[in-house]
Amino acid sequence: MPKRILLDTDPGIDDSLAILLALASPELSLEGISVVHGNCSLEQATINGLSVLELAHAEHIPLAVGCELPLVQPSLLAPETHGNTGLGYANLPEPRIKPVSQHGSDFLIEKILSSPGEMTLVAVGPLTNVALAIRKEPRIVGALNELVIMGGAIRHEGNTTPLAEFNTFVDPHAAHIVYHAGIPTTLVPLDVSYQCVLLASDVERLLKIESPIPQFIKAATDFYMEYHDSYQGIKGCVINDPLALALTFAPELCEYQSLPVDVDISGGVSTGKTFADFYNYEKKPANMKVALGVRPRDFIELFLKRMEKLSLTAFKLS
Ligand code: RIB
Ligand code: CA
Repeated sequence: MPKRILLDTDPGIDDSLAILLALASPELSLEGISVVHGNCSLEQATINGLSVLELAHAEHIPLAVGCELPLVQPSLLAPETHGNTGLGYANLPEPRIKPVSQHGSDFLIEKILSSPGEMTLVAVGPLTNVALAIRKEPRIVGALNELVIMGGAIRHEGNTTPLAEFNTFVDPHAAHIVYHAGIPTTLVPLDVSYQCVLLASDVERLLKIESPIPQFIKAATDFYMEYHDSYQGIKGCVINDPLALALTFAPELCEYQSLPVDVDISGGVSTGKTFADFYNYEKKPANMKVALGVRPRDFIELFLKRMEKLSLTAFKLS
């Protein structure tokens, strides 16, 4: 039986790769997408999510529009990282399909409560939708099978402030609610995702397949690689969100430690910083499993093989 997953996302270049990986993985049944502000505006992220579903001939997947702003912080988007459209240089056709009418947080609540114990939620954007869903309907805490979060930086430097990772910095209050809700949670921080670098040669390999999907990946990641090179001197681009998605069906790609993890909401210079109490000074129980080791090239190879397979399928359908 495929693992039933929901994806909360701010597409976003690496988010779009996570959507494609979910659609390319027979171990998973992607049962819905909720969109959140983050890499680009909610409106643009919604268009991007719908366009990527159409690109992969997955128009049947329901997509719900969630929160436009963080719970408390002012809006922070990432055009320097993902481009003004949120998909770099890619230029997908205006989507024909429309979102469902429910708010993203209500969509998550309905999907989770309709199948208690069966849904895994993968959250790869700011946690505003997830936090709102928990506050609106606390029963989802006991009904969710698992929550996998891409976010945070434990021993790794920040990618948005010197200390904080983007998803947690954009909405630290939402992260605080979610981290302490009591849901069985796996955190996939920059400590592992920054080791997962997609190279230009990897994209060239995909382009050997005559299909719209490699062409999309090339146009989107060209922009993303320029950002990584100019801002961080990285030759390639880190694909954070597909790594988090992959751990739902290939957890062996990482090593984990169960730890008490928290996020700073004190409003000072370290706002949004995630930290783990490795020596349990605070005598608190672990609230999540944290991925701290990874086999990067094994993950990249898995990603490339799945994109090759999806590209061939999409080519036949187009
Ligand atoms: O810090 C990386 C995370 O922030 C990724 O999910 C990326 O898509 C952005 O949302
Ligand atoms: Ca994201």
